[in-house]
Amino acid sequence: MPPTTHKALFLLDEQSHEWVIRERPVSTPGPKDLLIKITATALNPVDWKIQSLGYFVKEFPYVGGTDAAGLVEEVGSEVTNFAKGDRVLFQGWFDNPRATFQQYAVVAAEIAAKIPNTISTDQAATVALALATVVTGLYNHNPQAKSISVGFPAPWEEGGTTKFAGQPVFIIGGASSVGQYAIQVTKLSGFFPIIATASLRHEAFLKSLGATHVIDRTLSAAAIQAEVTKIGGGKPIELVYDAISLADTQPLAYDVLVPGGYLVLSLPDIIPAKKAGDNKTIVSTFGNVQTPENREVGVALYSRLTEWLETGKLVPNRVEVVHNGLAGIIDGLERMKNDQVSGTKLVAHPQETYIVNKPAGGDALVKSERSTIVTHSGGEGLYAAVDTYLVDTTWMRQVSWENRTDAMQTYQHSYTTELKVTQGTEVTVAVNVGAAFEGLSVGVDTSTKTFTTKETTSSETKTMTINVPPRSTLTFYQRQYTFRTSMFFILNAWHQEWNAGSPGGYDIERKTCTVQINSEDYLTTETELTNEGVGTVRVNTVARANNEGDRLTRKRENLTEWAKQQLSKMGI
Ligand SMILES: NC(=O)c1ccc[n+]([C@@H]2O[C@H](COP(=O)([O-])OP(=O)(O)OC[C@H]3O[C@@H](n4cnc5c(N)ncnc54)[C@H](OP(=O)(O)O)[C@@H]3O)[C@@H](O)[C@H]2O)c1
Repeated sequence: MPPTTHKALFLLDEQSHEWVIRERPVSTPGPKDLLIKITATALNPVDWKIQSLGYFVKEFPYVGGTDAAGLVEEVGSEVTNFAKGDRVLFQGWFDNPRATFQQYAVVAAEIAAKIPNTISTDQAATVALALATVVTGLYNHNPQAKSISVGFPAPWEEGGTTKFAGQPVFIIGGASSVGQYAIQVTKLSGFFPIIATASLRHEAFLKSLGATHVIDRTLSAAAIQAEVTKIGGGKPIELVYDAISLADTQPLAYDVLVPGGYLVLSLPDIIPAKKAGDNKTIVSTFGNVQTPENREVGVALYSRLTEWLETGKLVPNRVEVVHNGLAGIIDGLERMKNDQVSGTKLVAHPQETYIVNKPAGGDALVKSERSTIVTHSGGEGLYAAVDTYLVDTTWMRQVSWENRTDAMQTYQHSYTTELKVTQGTEVTVAVNVGAAFEGLSVGVDTSTKTFTTKETTSSETKTMTINVPPRSTLTFYQRQYTFRTSMFFILNAWHQEWNAGSPGGYDIERKTCTVQINSEDYLTTETELTNEGVGTVRVNTVARANNEGDRLTRKRENLTEWAKQQLSKMGI
């Protein structure tokens, strides 16, 4: 039996833009529905847009999220093709029973798909929304969908794999979640070549998905257009899919398209100067299979989605799991809003209930030092100024044991200690991140935590023996520490110290990374920690050892040749 209430991430009203975790009733599935226990939910740009910009949601309190995967918990009376315990993926909707930033949601069985064993639940959670944005925009024939779909035959329909064979397609934003599915779906339709813009670091990955050419997205619009024309080899570009659809991409998309061609946008049309009589069809998708006008194409898609995933016709997005269960979504959306997510999808685990404590007053500086990277016989020296901040400490729930007997029960539990760099760049040549934390002592509230070798430079799996008293429940938590490391570089040259600047400017070149340490600290308790909010801890801070203001900054190009070489060697 599912519980009667569960946790969900809410926006409480239109004015307050803050997410909060609250309990709400578990919804009851209708006869054609499934109740899903959500174990993974993906974060999408629409979620932060609703929060920050007040995008189209009018009913509050509102539960966010429309992308998920999990386990079937209950099956509606008329559903015959799913059973309790099936792993499924589905797309949510903008009403609370069907939202996905929560632990349980209902969905119509006809728009849910079983997850094949070849992919993880986290990967499966990345599929629904972005794939729907591509499939509904290209293949919906419903007359009500004229403004949101170009209505091409789908790959599963007659002519759907032959009509476009050998025709080029141009995709803007190939590395975005939507762009990755646009590459794969247009390949299924037979388009060739498949030309995408992206940051070139994603080139090999996008080619593995089916892109035949990846153009550097930082080139000027004119240069990109010239490149597309060259690759197209004189063939007209009759389909452009603009997965980004911002003010700088839409005019490019429009200009690349031949008269009479089709342009699919992922956001509303803001193309400033259209030419009269060019007969270009422009649609702005509404990528959700729950709407009545997208439902038929959605059902057709979901009936073959398991097979597409199982056979590798469709590869899910790459995943980064954000920690702290539903609470982790809040920081994740902030990162997306600040363009700090590239080529991966953030996924959260709503079933994981953690208690997070943040330092009172914000990230706490716990270590500040200067380390020598290299010195030169001519007297020059290059140094790293490294500041380490404690961001939060989290009690991660691992397991619960319920002892219903009148005798003590003994259980074994294994947990692992380790250090992980979860975000940003680890500048290993300059600083070994693990070693920098080994032996670090941090005063948190009334105790002092000193990090051991097993928690930093090496890892260990420990097995504990836990005694659970009669007629009681015990829950095991492991403590995780999250740090932010910020680094800049100091050059000693010309008898003076300089901050190393970035190319072309006086901004100081900085490298940051986020480090998580799954520590040896654990807690067993008969009272579960609750996840109602974020608590605070008092942390002993240190003084900052290196201030940028103590020296002038030199542009990258004006550093010494030696220093430039050293920085390049470190990938900086
Ligand atoms: N209409 C709908 O129903 C619908 C549905 C889904 C999404 N959307 C919208 O579609 C857009 C994309 O969504 P998403 O989930 O795919 O986003 P996403 O995965 O979060 O997008 C991040 C990626 O966008 C790429 N990017 C950013 N600016 C670019 C540019 N000028 N040219 C090329 N690539 C660029 C970045 O590429 P690099 O890594 O190469 O830097 C980054 O990897 C969003 O605005 C979203 O709101 C609309």
